[in-house]
Amino acid sequence: MTVKHLKILHQHNSSINQTFEKDGDDVIQGLTKSQKSLPPKYFYDDRGSELFEKICDLPEYYPTRTEAWILNEYADEIAAITGSCELVELGSGSSTKTHYLLSAYQKAANSLTEAVPDAFSYIPIDVSGGILKTTVLHLQEKYPDLCLEGLLGTYEEALLYLGKNHGRSRMIFFLGSSIGNFTESESNDFLSKVSHALTKGDYFLLGIDLQKPKEVLEAAYNDSQEVTAAFNLNMLAHLNWRFQGNFDLDLFRHQAIYNEIDHQIEMYLHARSPHQVSLDILDLKIQFQAGESILTEISRKFGLEAVQAQLQSQGLETVKIWTDPQKMFGLVLCQV
Ligand code: AVJ
Repeated sequence: MTVKHLKILHQHNSSINQTFEKDGDDVIQGLTKSQKSLPPKYFYDDRGSELFEKICDLPEYYPTRTEAWILNEYADEIAAITGSCELVELGSGSSTKTHYLLSAYQKAANSLTEAVPDAFSYIPIDVSGGILKTTVLHLQEKYPDLCLEGLLGTYEEALLYLGKNHGRSRMIFFLGSSIGNFTESESNDFLSKVSHALTKGDYFLLGIDLQKPKEVLEAAYNDSQEVTAAFNLNMLAHLNWRFQGNFDLDLFRHQAIYNEIDHQIEMYLHARSPHQVSLDILDLKIQFQAGESILTEISRKFGLEAVQAQLQSQGLETVKIWTDPQKMFGLVLCQV
C-alpha cells in the first residue's frame, strides 16, 4: 500500500514571508551558551520516536497510560461538546492515544442524519517522517472513511501552513504534556500561534502532566531499563547523522532531576571526560570539560489553575477539565 496523504512541509516552501532561522542555527545557539542546551525536537529522528514509544510502555512512565485512560473514558463527551470538526494533532507520533478520539468522532459522524462532506477528518503533524508514514498508512486502512492528511514538519511550520480554517470548525489537540517542553514564555508564543490558527468557536484540547512528588517524577525519567537514557543519548546520534558530527555517546551520561522550585524535570547529558566534538555541516567545534552538561529537555509539571489562566491570557477559555481519579494527569478543553 502506498501513502496517499502525506505532505512534507519545509521552511523554504513557505509562501508566508516569515523569516525562519537556518536549519541547525538552534544547535549552534544552544551549544555555544555557558549552560549548553539542545532543543527537544532533536530527540525525534526515527530511532528517537521508536525509543519514545518504548518509554510510553515503561512501568515507571505513567503519563501515557494515564492520559489514555482519560481519553478512553471521556472521548465521547469531548466529541459531543465540539460536534463534528477537523481534528488537527500537533506531535502525533504513533497516534496511539488518538484512536480513542477518532472512534468517538467516527461514531458521531456516522450518526449524522445528512451527510456532511469531510465530517470526519484528521491531520496528524510530526517531525519524524518514519513514524508519520507508518501511522498514516495504518490509519488509511483502519478508517477508510477518514479524510486524512499527514504533515511532516515542525509545529511552527504546520500552524503557518494550516492558517485560519475556512468554513468548518476545527479542534487542534496537543497531547502527552509536550507543552511541558516549553518555558513559560515559549509556551505563550506557542499558544498564541495555536490561537491564531483557530476561529471563534473552535477548540483546543491540551494534555498536561500535573505536579506530584519528586520520587514519582524522577522514577518516570530514570527508568530501571534505561530506555530514557538511550532516548536522551540518541539525540547526539541524531546530530551526528544530521550535521556530520562526531559525538561519542560513550562519553556522555544521562541524568534527570526534578527541580522543585520551577516544577520541572530537567534532563541532562554529562560529559564523562574533557573532549572536543565537531559538527562539520555547522562548522562548529565544541569543548567539553569533565562533568559539563547539556540540558536536553525540560518537562514542566502543571497546576490546573495556572494552566487555565495562561490559556485565557491567549484567548483560550476553558470549557471543561478531565483528570484521572488520582489527579496525575489533566486534559483541558478550551475554546476561542
Ligand atoms: C513527549 C515531551 C511529553 O516530557 O515526558 C519522556 C518526553 N522525555 N521521557 C515528557 C520524555 C523523557 C515527554 N514529552
